[in-house]
Amino acid sequence: MKIAVLGAAGGIGQPLSLLLKNQLPAGSELALYDVNPVVPGVAADLSHIPTPVKVTGHGKDALGEALSGADIVVVPAGVPRKPGMTRDDLFNVNAGIVRDLARAGAEACPQVCWLIITNPVNSTVPIAAETLRQAGVYDRRKVFGVTTLDVIRANTFVAEAKGLDPRDLDVRVIGGHSGNTILPLLSQIPGVSFSDEEARALTARIQNAGTEVVEAKAGAGSATLSMAEAALRFTLAVLRGLEGEESVMCSYVQVDGMPTEFFATPVRLGRGGVEEILPYGELSALERELYEAMLPTLEANIEKGLAFARQGG
Ligand code: NAI
Repeated sequence: MKIAVLGAAGGIGQPLSLLLKNQLPAGSELALYDVNPVVPGVAADLSHIPTPVKVTGHGKDALGEALSGADIVVVPAGVPRKPGMTRDDLFNVNAGIVRDLARAGAEACPQVCWLIITNPVNSTVPIAAETLRQAGVYDRRKVFGVTTLDVIRANTFVAEAKGLDPRDLDVRVIGGHSGNTILPLLSQIPGVSFSDEEARALTARIQNAGTEVVEAKAGAGSATLSMAEAALRFTLAVLRGLEGEESVMCSYVQVDGMPTEFFATPVRLGRGGVEEILPYGELSALERELYEAMLPTLEANIEKGLAFARQGG
């Protein structure tokens, strides 16, 4: 398998590439691309780690080379938040980056799986989807918004609150990936229950966890290390799926029969990418209220992305 990381020299890209170098199956190829000229150095550095994974570095004029033959493209390219910013504030810069990368991928690796990390995910995934559709290569089973960070944060915070081992948890987080569109389904965790008040407080903490990191880093960026771990987990799950080992993960994908065209929900990953969109189950009264409240924002984020891509940016 060949995995390309676009934005590989960045705060997420570097630790993610390190994790992938250590954990991809033997014989895999890891292609690192970035517009930052340090990227060949990052590749050289990682290539000295003794694992059977080949690492190559590709600078700004070599995107096609990085993408050629790729099975999975992971995209953390773009600017992160600073204190006081919402993810939507990143739209103006990041929308064009994702569109351009999707256009290049449509040419170089039309069958590839796209794992989009770049924010605002609620809009950048529709941008990638629409751009690929315009190029005639869109396969909705192969375009994913990476929302795994919301899941691992939920697992961590629930474990802390209830004295559990976070490795035993797999909290479903549905909706989108920003503010009130992040909806952890705390009512569905086996053997764990919360009062309404506890559930509200914990939900708010999970929704604001990204901002917690942005503020603690005080202008130097957003979550990078936990995001790299989250992206590693999701990339490995997609990769194993392509190799026939199925699993279920939450991801922001195109859906049918839901109030919005894109939605984070559990999906069964397999040889074709998304093999099945799974139901997210019964919502508690509180979750239903939060679900209804998020829909206008999510809808607006999706429309904004689609409109951008339809106008050719
Ligand atoms: P960063 O600024 O440290 O790194 C971004 C990298 O992208 C830089 O190396 C930059 O040179 C590169 N880049 C910029 N334009 C590019 C282009 N056209 N092609 C290739 N590379 C390009 O930012 P960081 O912290 O790594 O964050 C990256 C993105 O991930 C941000 O948009 C951030 O908001 C998002 N993010 C998403 C999360 C999620 O849960 N999905 C969580 C945390 C961050």
